Amino acid sequence: MSDLTDQKAVSLAAIDGAETLDALEAERVAALGKKGWVSLALKTLGGMSPEERSAAAPAIQAVRAEVADAISAKKDALEASVLEAQLASETIDLTLPAPDQQVGSVHPVSQVMDELAEIFADLGFAVATGPEIEDDWHNFTALNMDESHPARAMHDTFYFPDAAPDGGQMLLRTHTSPVQIRSMKEQGAPIRIIAPGRVYRSDSDATHTPMFHQVEGLVIDRDIHLGHLKWTLETFFKAFFEREDIELRLRPSYFPFTEPSVEFDVGYANEGDRRVVGGHGDDDGHDWMELGGSGMVNPRVLEFAGLDPAEWQGFAFGLGIDRIAMLKYGMNDLRAFFDGDPRWLAHYGFSPFDQPTLSAGVGARP
Ligand code: DAH
Repeated sequence: MSDLTDQKAVSLAAIDGAETLDALEAERVAALGKKGWVSLALKTLGGMSPEERSAAAPAIQAVRAEVADAISAKKDALEASVLEAQLASETIDLTLPAPDQQVGSVHPVSQVMDELAEIFADLGFAVATGPEIEDDWHNFTALNMDESHPARAMHDTFYFPDAAPDGGQMLLRTHTSPVQIRSMKEQGAPIRIIAPGRVYRSDSDATHTPMFHQVEGLVIDRDIHLGHLKWTLETFFKAFFEREDIELRLRPSYFPFTEPSVEFDVGYANEGDRRVVGGHGDDDGHDWMELGGSGMVNPRVLEFAGLDPAEWQGFAFGLGIDRIAMLKYGMNDLRAFFDGDPRWLAHYGFSPFDQPTLSAGVGARP
């Protein structure tokens, strides 16, 4: 028994003197580990008679508890001092500038869509959407392009193998015009919507990508005429390009879904290698640039959409969003829009905090 007392004294002194958590762990193993002296002492109980065992056990258990408590107390103390040392040596200088974080930016197409929504909302237009996987009927037939219509061939359509519900095949919409049909069917008339979104054509070069963006406009009411169309487009372009000297030219054209149909051009000037919108296209140093198609909605289209052409009439227009984004913000290669290069985005992208508003400017730059 005095052996045990000696060993305990030695062990407690060593535990008390341990300077590191590793040293303390070594002491724990030497005492309480499988071959530690406390464990060996406990093992001797096994060879004793029951009387001897009940006489000897409490003392050994008491030693074991004392040693275990000493180790646990010392462990707490050592851990606290490690933390204290860490707190003392590691400092943060809050006056230093924070390290640079990569900040995302808003793609110019998204920004321009927000600008469109903002400007047209002010003119009383709601934003409408439709599916990009469209059926033949909405994309063509209801827009007055039946199966034999030659205009279908001009659309370089991506078809799916699946059959569409009302004949033909499912396809990737080639324009935003089917949203006209869907909106009229859902909401009836009067109606005033824009429909921005992705469209697809099997076409690829410096100025064409297989996916691009259009915005559709549609106004149906009882006495809408081409004058309303011209005023609406002019008002939109003035707000969008943020200049008053926008000149619009309407040129007779043909679209199956409008009658009469016009294409609209804006006047611009070349400044260096940049086209700058503004001024009359026939003025010196100026020219006209086509921006989109429009016209009075063909009565047959109204019928397809469930409206009575004797009661309702209106105008529609469609234009390329990527194109007007390039014109406004000065990019010259359409393909870079969709490469996903973060350097391009860092240059042309917008801060998420620059929400376009009519009061603060629709063309806010970071
Ligand atoms: N959907 C036509 C296209 O993609 C553009 C267009 C022309 C839309 C005339 C219209 C319109 O709404 O009236 O080529």
